[in-house]
Amino acid sequence: MKEQLAKIRAEALAAMDGAQSTAELDALRVQYLGKKGELTAVLKQMGKLSAEERPAMGQLANEVRAALEEAIEVNARKLEEKALEQRLEAEKLDVTIPGKQVKLGHKHPMYIALDEIKDIFVGMGFTVLDGPEVELAELNFDRLNAEEGHPSRDWSDTFYFDEDSRVMLRSQTSPMQVRAMDTMELPIRIIAPGRVYRKDEVDATHSPMFHQVEGMVIDKNVTMADLKGTLNTVVEKLYGKGTKTRFRPHHFPFTEPSCEMDVQCHKCGGVGCPTCKGEGWIELLGAGMIHPKVLEMSGIDPKEYSGWAFGMGLERTAMRRFKIADLRLIFENDIRFLEQF
Ligand code: DAH
Repeated sequence: MKEQLAKIRAEALAAMDGAQSTAELDALRVQYLGKKGELTAVLKQMGKLSAEERPAMGQLANEVRAALEEAIEVNARKLEEKALEQRLEAEKLDVTIPGKQVKLGHKHPMYIALDEIKDIFVGMGFTVLDGPEVELAELNFDRLNAEEGHPSRDWSDTFYFDEDSRVMLRSQTSPMQVRAMDTMELPIRIIAPGRVYRKDEVDATHSPMFHQVEGMVIDKNVTMADLKGTLNTVVEKLYGKGTKTRFRPHHFPFTEPSCEMDVQCHKCGGVGCPTCKGEGWIELLGAGMIHPKVLEMSGIDPKEYSGWAFGMGLERTAMRRFKIADLRLIFENDIRFLEQF
């Protein structure tokens, strides 16, 4: 029996050391240590031994079993390490290969101009508001003193959603004046940029969708001088020191008095050229002192408070800022155009 055990030990250890996979090792474990294994078979014969022989043989058998178990463990670990190494080798990344260049986009020129405008007004203590493009005609017209029958309310000019002309795509950002008056505490200083919609044919200066920036100040003792001073400051910050403006009388239902502000043509310096259509000036915005009726409709006492407001075309401002000749370029999203900014 002693020789039998020695033989099993030698054979088993050699086989285990030579195992090429964990599956092979597992098969060896079953072959020697399993229920019907070779070592187990020897142990079953223990009963046939004499009482004197049994302890020594038992100890030897246990030693062999321990040796085999250890060999299994050691070899299992070796095989696992080998497998891991092989996997790492197979999955190796060559980080020296140059990566694919990611092309970064950039802001649209109109939004570059808008961000500049926002920065200027925020620096003067204005709050930037956002509002709905689908608007009530009541806010777009009635509350701005444009009564039934006012030409701008016509179906040929405005996109309505219903037969009763109650819901519409806003035709101006001016309803944001009403929304601000209805929700904010006085004094108010806001700008409200956003899209507006009108039934216009597309050409070099028109689009059925364009952007405006509304502005409004309401406080005690606000005058037209504040309006001019503020807008002149904004224009100089946008277009450079010394840029000249002029204010022409105009009419809007929600301001009294009303005006339009022109900026001296950047191309010809005021002499007259194709860019300014020979005028020397380019119209930039409408403005005025808020009509007392408009204040009253929003529950503000015009004897105590006064205010001014303006509405500026954003595309036009960007076109002047970046010397863009055709409005359509702003919306066509031609990469060759956009990449220039
Ligand atoms: N909403 C006017 C328009 O679309 C522009 C405008 C004029 C806005 C005068 C104002 C204003 O706030 O005071 O033509």
